[in-house]
Amino acid sequence: MHIVHVAVEMAPIAKVGGLGDVVTSLSRAVQDLSHNVDIIFPKYDCLDLSNVKDFQYHKNYFWGGTEIKVWHGKVEGLSVYFLEPLNGFFSVGCVYGRGNDADRFGFFCHAALEFLHQNGFHPDIIHCHDWSSAPVAWLFKDHYMHYGLSKARVVFTIHNLEFGAHFIGKAMAYADKATTVSPTYSREVAGNPLVAPHHHKFHGILNGIDPDIWDPYTDKFIPVSYTSENVVEGKRAAKETLQQRLNLRKADLPLVGIITRLTHQKGIHLIKHAIWRTLDRGGQVVLLGSAPDPRIQNDFVNLANQLHSSHNDCARLCLTYDEPLSHLIYAAADFILVPSIFEPCGLTQLTAMRYGSIPVVRKTGGLFDTVFDVDNDRERAQAQGLEPNGFNFDGADPGGVDYALNRAISAWYDGRDRFNTLCKTVMEQDWSWNKPALDYLELYHSALKSE
Ligand code: ADP
Ligand code: GLC
Repeated sequence: MHIVHVAVEMAPIAKVGGLGDVVTSLSRAVQDLSHNVDIIFPKYDCLDLSNVKDFQYHKNYFWGGTEIKVWHGKVEGLSVYFLEPLNGFFSVGCVYGRGNDADRFGFFCHAALEFLHQNGFHPDIIHCHDWSSAPVAWLFKDHYMHYGLSKARVVFTIHNLEFGAHFIGKAMAYADKATTVSPTYSREVAGNPLVAPHHHKFHGILNGIDPDIWDPYTDKFIPVSYTSENVVEGKRAAKETLQQRLNLRKADLPLVGIITRLTHQKGIHLIKHAIWRTLDRGGQVVLLGSAPDPRIQNDFVNLANQLHSSHNDCARLCLTYDEPLSHLIYAAADFILVPSIFEPCGLTQLTAMRYGSIPVVRKTGGLFDTVFDVDNDRERAQAQGLEPNGFNFDGADPGGVDYALNRAISAWYDGRDRFNTLCKTVMEQDWSWNKPALDYLELYHSALKSE
């Protein structure tokens, strides 16, 4: 099967959040199952070309009143066509936030279909993602389907229903199949007016992570490589390195890591509460996060200053985006906290487990589907063939966070052997694309059978 993704984020060359991870990792998993995958992507000026192999000029074409240069290269082993319209649409800024995002991405989607058409591509599946490449769905059905690309089917994935309602509604109407990124989120949004009319073609397929990209055995950003066999040594070395790098007290204390975009979705008030709770319990906390909203960023700058005076050796807020540091935190932390108000899937809890860190999460969306409480969810875990793997809570108040975090930190203090066994257990669970990629292939096949 030939699958073409049209997307505006892709790890590691232009990643803002989990959408970028998924475009790369799902594509790699499907390609590994012997399918042919191409990605069409904007040629942003900010692209990290050091991660693109064999980058070379491919062709140019005219569309939309401008010349468009096409480049080709390999990203993580995937074939990517980069579109560079000479009208300068992608030459300033990176990915989002230019004020005219809808125009730029609308243009890109149209240019992508035009490129497929002019290049004589005949994909089986065109897969688009979120509001930013949603226009592909209706542009294809209104226009390109009627000539050239006729046999293709369109699959649309909602990674987050919060943004671009108008675009999402239109793509839902036109796509042959639609997905979202976890079964529980698909149920949570089933009654949403953008989704409800299309429930017959809407499926929740859990995201995975790429076990080669996130691998503590080969990770170049951590001091000692480890597997589940030497997880204790590996994580101890990572914790010492992190403490040294961030100038935290070098001591064996329970370390809570938080790696997140700082937005309402991620439970800002719960994050703040958890920082103080962890410190009260004698733990250390490291937050790596950046806020698109300057007011939230300022708020955290103030909190960082406050913590600097009161808890300088046990708390560090790194208010930036830093991929290498995120790897070190996943390895160093005992716990990764994800107290989201809503979470379509969430990848940080999955990556945490890959590095032997215990997730502490709010029970919502994909967090509910992937984290099973050691005290309360044994049966629910076993129904999935899993051992319990973390701590979770309901509600959106500080009491909920306390309920999960207190138990987590107590488990750390109470029995290190038992805690270390839990770290080994979570590392050995498979949160890769092994199963979800097969679910996507089944969906692609059923799309091809649809009229
Ligand atoms: P979302 O897409 O809603 O932000 P996900 O959990 O799906 O949430 O994905 C977030 C991704 O972005 C993860 O790969 C996480 O490691 C990464 N990430 C988030 N914030 C940062 C940051 N400040 N620095 C580095 N990586 C980050
Ligand atoms: C979105 C969601 C997140 C999900 C990611 C990848 O950004 O907020 O929950 O994991 O997309 O699908």
